[in-house]
Amino acid sequence: MSETAKLELEGKVYELPVIQGTENEKAIDISKLRDTTGYVTLDSGYKNTGATKSKITFLDGEKGILHYRGYSIEQLAEKATFLEVAYLLIYGELPTQTQLDAFRNSITKHTLVHEDMKQFFEAYPAKAHPMGVLASMVCSMATFYPESLDPNRSAEAKDLTIHRLIAKLPTLAAWSYKNAIRHPFMYPKNDFDYCKNFLYMMFGMPTEDFKVDPVVVEALNKLLILHADHEQNCSTSTVRIVGSSNANLYATISAGISALWGPLHGGANQEVIEMLEKIHNDGGDVDKWVAKAKDKEDPFRLMGFGHRVYKNFDPRAKIIKKACDDILEKLGVNDPMLDIAKKLEKVALEDEYFKARNLYPNVDFYSGIIYKALGIPTEMFTVMFALGRLPGWVAQWKEMTENKEPIGRPRQIYTGATSREYVPIEKR
Ligand code: CMC
Repeated sequence: MSETAKLELEGKVYELPVIQGTENEKAIDISKLRDTTGYVTLDSGYKNTGATKSKITFLDGEKGILHYRGYSIEQLAEKATFLEVAYLLIYGELPTQTQLDAFRNSITKHTLVHEDMKQFFEAYPAKAHPMGVLASMVCSMATFYPESLDPNRSAEAKDLTIHRLIAKLPTLAAWSYKNAIRHPFMYPKNDFDYCKNFLYMMFGMPTEDFKVDPVVVEALNKLLILHADHEQNCSTSTVRIVGSSNANLYATISAGISALWGPLHGGANQEVIEMLEKIHNDGGDVDKWVAKAKDKEDPFRLMGFGHRVYKNFDPRAKIIKKACDDILEKLGVNDPMLDIAKKLEKVALEDEYFKARNLYPNVDFYSGIIYKALGIPTEMFTVMFALGRLPGWVAQWKEMTENKEPIGRPRQIYTGATSREYVPIEKR
């Protein structure tokens, strides 16, 4: 007989099914709890709630494991391209050469953004945060492609919507930056690969030949792969819950982008650079700031250190540290902020306080440093995260629609006033 959990309530014992995932993680299935007992569960922030069964990403925070569709992040980051990983996440298997060529051709074909959308950019103020622009532009895509409004129309229509989005997000992201600095938009160059084309649209100028170091393209490819999915986090859960109402994909991903915008989620890499600037402007005394981070009376924390899920090490940080070292050496960047970052990393890795609490630099520490070294402005960091996370969001949305999951609708425990009579205004 399969395993069950026993729950005793008001003297009555209920048996709840226990389900087990393929990596042996276990869950108590409470989906019928309210019907059978009248009770619901309470779990603020859903920290103990499995909201779905998913075949996409597995992570084990204790062991520092991250797998996409069973493949380790280490192997994918070393050997694959971002589009290959996007295909893997969305369609479930690594593509054959023919499948990858067809996928790449389709993505390349759709990189242009409708010319009318260009006018939207011009209406934004120069100081518009690129995440606000990106979320609005992605949502607006639904108005240009009305056939996307029914997300379940056909597998071909679904694929077309997905490919358009993956193709156009780099264009929209780069244009939101160009708009902010009031430079001319660079149209996509389809003989460049995905990463190089993005860098071209970001940093290319119509007046110059575009040259980029392959180390930079490779680092971007790795960063996008490392951010491509992270199972049911804030933005991904947002995507699944918005998509569960049968909203179209563009509106759904726009909601995911908005969720990612928050500093508690996608904003950490930006906070790293802001912290480094603060330390620099304060005279660059790293030891002083490490002491502040350790002082329980002081709210300051070292940004980019520690992780909610990874308690021994962040496998993504291990990979990206090397790319970070390579980039800094190759580009020979001379930036006092990056010197502070290196000192901070060294001090924190050797300090007992950080060692005892397993507080090592996380992926956002290094991604912030790399983006800074590449000349990407801090306001664009979360946009870079969105670019990487897109295939994960799409895969999670596709899986949810294919599984015909019900509309998301959590319960609550009401703690407000009980029933009372309306009081006319003159008597209040
Ligand atoms: N600097 C100094 N002390 C810290 C830090 C830090 N960055 N992080 C945790 N601690 C201490 C904390 O004070 C506590 O000490 P004690 O046991 O003496 O009370 C102990 O370490 C455990 O901390 P916690 O707050 O219980 O750990 P948590 O798992 O709840 O928090 C965290 C994880 C990421 C929110 C936290 O480490 C933090 O605030 N880090 C800085 C912000 C950051 O880098 N965030 C990005 C995370 S990666 C994002 C992603 O994967 O998408």
